[in-house]
Amino acid sequence: MKSHITIYAGVDKNGNKENYTKIILKLGEVVSIVGHTGSGKTLLISDIEQLSQKDSVSQRLITIDDKLPDFEERFDPEKKRIAMITQNTKCVSDLVVEEFLKIHALSRNIFEKELVEKVISLANKFTGESITGEAKVTELSGGQTRSLLFADAILIGASPIILVDEIENAGINKSEILKYVKNENKLVIFASHDPAIVLATEKRIIMKNGAIEKIIEHTDADRAVLESVLEADRVIKYVQEMLRDGLELGGGM
Ligand SMILES: Nc1ncnc2c1ncn2[C@@H]1O[C@H](COP(=O)(O)OP(=O)(O)OP(=O)(O)O)[C@@H](O)[C@H]1O
Ligand SMILES: [Mg+2]
Repeated sequence: MKSHITIYAGVDKNGNKENYTKIILKLGEVVSIVGHTGSGKTLLISDIEQLSQKDSVSQRLITIDDKLPDFEERFDPEKKRIAMITQNTKCVSDLVVEEFLKIHALSRNIFEKELVEKVISLANKFTGESITGEAKVTELSGGQTRSLLFADAILIGASPIILVDEIENAGINKSEILKYVKNENKLVIFASHDPAIVLATEKRIIMKNGAIEKIIEHTDADRAVLESVLEADRVIKYVQEMLRDGLELGGGM
């Protein structure tokens, strides 16, 4: 992929045509997908992951750089250049973090010595629970796993498209993630209920009844509201830490 994907309209849950002709998403963009539970966010993410060719329930068609993807581009893990991180993503290998990253880097012919350290320290910016190189990947928590895979996708993976399905409430520092992905020439798409993510992305896709209803571009007003949301987040995190440490609020026994 050199520059963009195009989504051609499919149908909503009732089989009615979606209200657009095509939507172009470019490398370098950070996009969010929002909408009520059941509105079709995960299906849209999976349409992009599969590069659907009118063969999913939404009947959307997706092209890469204006070309139809061939079979390998869609289904061969070697050729497929789309990384997907979901709520349930788990590493299934017996390796420790360091080996896991080393093998991935080697498989991509990257021999940079400090790379493994870099990935771990980037992952540790995303998660509050520190990851060490000696930890087994299967024993990482959900938040640690997603943070590690995200850092891995940015620094080692060559995937130009990174899809993230719901990382809120996952012990992940979202503003750090957004800060990093903005500097990468990747298309990053978050399906999210989290205002801190939604307000920080340049574009948001609104889902309703299985259809893309509209696309909203980021404005200065969004930026102002985002500041308040982040401030509120900081308060919540602070109180959360205190509660985890066993703080008692008045009363007591
Ligand atoms: N365009 C569509 N046509 C037919 N079925 C659809 C369409 N869009 C979504 N669905 C179906 O509706 C159900 C809910 O969609 P989906 O899981 O994508 O919602 P969601 O927005 O991710 O919800 P949540 O916020 O709970 O994760 C799924 O079974 C999905 O396959
Ligand atoms: Mg979903």
